[in-house]
Amino acid sequence: AAPVTHEAETATVSQGLVESNHTGFTGDGFVNYDNATGSYVQWNVNAAQAGPATLTLRYANGTTTNRPMDIAVNGAVAASGKAFAGTGAWTNWATTTVTTTLKAGANTVRATATTANGGPNVDHLTVDNATTPPPTTG
Ligand code: GCU
Repeated sequence: AAPVTHEAETATVSQGLVESNHTGFTGDGFVNYDNATGSYVQWNVNAAQAGPATLTLRYANGTTTNRPMDIAVNGAVAASGKAFAGTGAWTNWATTTVTTTLKAGANTVRATATTANGGPNVDHLTVDNATTPPPTTG
């Protein structure tokens, strides 16, 4: 299947606010994480079949300090302390990717800030779990 984009502003947010004061986002806005360890955004992601997937997070960090986050899939950390480096301005958006494995059906992806600065501003998550279909039999 084609990659699917899941906006942050429609996901579950713990310790953060949906805002739209920095241009360049997709959808209706982005999530401004509270400047707090443990603040997170969690998405519900559906996968047509079990298998490998690439998660792409689009973010902005207008500071010069990394805003690392743990990226967890179905409660298990897939990328610990993933870097979300400064992007030069809050209006400059960048992407970073994590490879993981999804199960068929419902999955969760959670991006949790691991420092007191909180996360970067997060625009969306794109999930690409296109796989080569198994050969037909019979
Ligand atoms: C600024 C910026 C916010 C950002 C915040 C932060 O206040 O306007 O969009 O989230 O810094 O440090 O996280």
